[in-house]
Amino acid sequence: MKKYKIAVIPGDGTGPEVINEGIKVLNSAGEKYGVKFEFVKFDFGAERYLRTGETLPDSAIEDLKNFDAIYLGAIGDPRVKPGILELGILLKLRFAFDQYINLRPVKLYREQDCPLKDKKPEDVDFVVIRENTGGVYTGIGGVQQKNTKNEVATQVMLYSYFQVERCIRYAYEYTRKRNKKKQLTLVHKTNVLTYCGDLWWRVFQEVGKDYPDIKQDYNHVDACCMWMVKSPEYYDVIVTENMFGDIITDLAAIIQGGLGIAAGGNINPEGISMFEPMGGSAPKYTGQNVINPLAAIFAASMMMDVLGEEKISSLIDEAIKKALLSGKIKSLSAGKMGLSTTEVGDLVASLV
Ligand code: IPM
Ligand code: MN
Repeated sequence: MKKYKIAVIPGDGTGPEVINEGIKVLNSAGEKYGVKFEFVKFDFGAERYLRTGETLPDSAIEDLKNFDAIYLGAIGDPRVKPGILELGILLKLRFAFDQYINLRPVKLYREQDCPLKDKKPEDVDFVVIRENTGGVYTGIGGVQQKNTKNEVATQVMLYSYFQVERCIRYAYEYTRKRNKKKQLTLVHKTNVLTYCGDLWWRVFQEVGKDYPDIKQDYNHVDACCMWMVKSPEYYDVIVTENMFGDIITDLAAIIQGGLGIAAGGNINPEGISMFEPMGGSAPKYTGQNVINPLAAIFAASMMMDVLGEEKISSLIDEAIKKALLSGKIKSLSAGKMGLSTTEVGDLVASLV
């Protein structure tokens, strides 16, 4: 029997609640296909930080190397200064495991969940591939004369050819495999970012020569925000640098129904990947059993796909779809679902 070792970091706030439902669904899908999971929990997050001052010790990185994938709930707590846990846990994991792709599928299942007028499920179905370890997230920069009126600060957008190339190649491959419109849109800001934008543009063209079957397309990031709202049906696959990807995927998340459903994969195609619901820790809903676990369940489905368990992945996808189309889930928003967190998990698990 095939067995996967999954490291689970439930994290803060509602993280543990949604992760439990994802595990429930994975176990139920695994049973159907004779796949077993060993879940090992790690307590990284706010509680541990407040207790010990430790975010993610280097020894943890070593421990995590023994797993097939990482399943993350949410990181963030109002008691901890912004940036500490994000940098110390989430970004540290992305960098340590060189998860250079952030894959964010944007799919609307029900018209009622889309805030855009007259947009139907067939109109919102694209994927954003966000570069996940470079750009301004590299953390290069500095500050001088801090706390004076002469203070100057820099934060450098750094990209190497190597980083851009591997991301863009992944995007072309993904677009080919997805086999929909076979259109890849590079999103950048080449009219202003004349060094970084130019690098992305040239590599996009160059790598594109190996993919004559893929239609090349380009949008400036500001225009992309406009089009995504006006004509989301235009997009198939988008590839973009780290921070632009961060921003446009929040916009994309809301047109697919919000953070209750949006999930992402931090992927190292040759290594250990990490899957997470895109929503934060939602402290005000913690412990109430009202948060939407669908994003976490969707992240579990992505994890299966990347681990090569495509059948289990689509089984979970279909179950999410069936659960939504059953009409039993009134809304995707926390507290308005008409069902509890655990009931939504039970429903999806019963449908796999
Ligand atoms: C995300 C988040 C993170 C990011 C934060 C929490 C560091 O917004 O995963 O999109 O900026 O990448
Ligand atoms: Mn973000």
